[in-house]
Amino acid sequence: MPNRVIVGSQWGDEGKAKIVDFLTLYADIIVRFQGGANAGHTVKVDDKEFIFHLIPSGIMHANKICIIGNGVVFDPKQAILEIKDLISKGISVENRILIAENAHVVLPWHIACDKLKEAKAGKSAIGTTGRGIGPCYSDKVNRHGVRVGDLLSEQDLRPRIEDIAGFRNEEFKKMFEAEAIDSEPVIKEYLELGEQLRPYICDISPYLQESLKAKKQIIFEGAQGTILDVDHGTYPFVTSSNTVAGYASCGSGVGPTAIEQVIGVVKAYTTRVGNGPFPTELQNEIGEKLRSIGGEYGATTGRPRRCGWFDAPVVRKAAAVNGLTHLAITKLDVLDTFKEIKICTDYKIEGREVLHFPNSLAQVALCEPVYETMPGWECSTSKCRSWNDLPENAQKYLIRLSELAGVKIGMISIGAKRDESILVDIQ
Ligand code: IMO
Ligand code: MG
Repeated sequence: MPNRVIVGSQWGDEGKAKIVDFLTLYADIIVRFQGGANAGHTVKVDDKEFIFHLIPSGIMHANKICIIGNGVVFDPKQAILEIKDLISKGISVENRILIAENAHVVLPWHIACDKLKEAKAGKSAIGTTGRGIGPCYSDKVNRHGVRVGDLLSEQDLRPRIEDIAGFRNEEFKKMFEAEAIDSEPVIKEYLELGEQLRPYICDISPYLQESLKAKKQIIFEGAQGTILDVDHGTYPFVTSSNTVAGYASCGSGVGPTAIEQVIGVVKAYTTRVGNGPFPTELQNEIGEKLRSIGGEYGATTGRPRRCGWFDAPVVRKAAAVNGLTHLAITKLDVLDTFKEIKICTDYKIEGREVLHFPNSLAQVALCEPVYETMPGWECSTSKCRSWNDLPENAQKYLIRLSELAGVKIGMISIGAKRDESILVDIQ
């Protein structure tokens, strides 16, 4: 089995966790490489549902090693909650979780700043998850950050926190007329959190180098999606990290030559949560039908997701910037009852063809989808276990998506459970 990156290829919530959980069967190590507790990764095993925000989705398989990479912004409180929850449900985490000592720590100032900025922005708010992601990444890049390894000694932690407290409290007062956060209790609390996490904290890069030498199979698990990428997405309505496959290398400390396969997870339709342009959005009863059948409510914030038809220009962009080798198409079953299904094949702006998904937000907002209509299959697909089990119209729909994306289909998902999966062309 090759080392593979699994990335979202739309606006997040594509069902990455289900695909990671399934493919973990064939892997040894799963690494989250970016994002933070803004992710909401739902894994359903038997009849139990788990939502992970930080812990890699491979954790449900005994004996697999799960790593939080240096590219993640790490909220220690959230991680401890998830670890405790796993232990209480009888899932062993001992010697199975590693946390990169050079990942950055999300602090109370980051969470407060995220919420204050959004509240102040009013109508132009990004619609963030409020998990402190943007402020934490900005402190990292500004060289004000606290890293996970700093949580293990007061000598390291104190000056770092005092630095952040100094300028963030000033910002709170001047920009938001908000209360300062006292650094002393934070230092005490985060040292205690560091003690609880001490067994898991290490330098993950040498561990991964040794694993590569030993021919262990690695899955690099992405969060969010390509069109939320800070460089390639609908900026500024994006998250604050690089969500694309290339970042798997940077966010875990392995070279790009370690990666052999890139799987782009796409829903059989499109959703977006948060603000920003969305060309195929359906603000009508069809959008509502997709939302209710697909259970399209955010796993992190509970917000209703905006829904629309499959958008091929979005997935073509994802294919290009990620170098996708395969598509994993999820939630096909959500379309089971539709009589007709539309696909956006291209965009037009004022009658002119648009060749590529635009970088300019204003241009994206002007894009009018060009639709093609296909007949639905109007029967349940959830019992299908092979390509040949699928109704002919579903096969035709999938083939068309693959053609329009220019990427072959590796896998199809027809339900949240592990066995509701069809492997097409992945080895
Ligand atoms: P998973 O991994 C969908 C969106 C937010 C907002 C924007 C910025 O479950 O697919 P942030 O809190 O990151 O600063 O918010 O990004 N967003 C997601 N949307 N799925 C996610 O993660 C997301 N993580 C962030 O809604 O529009
Ligand atoms: Mg999500």
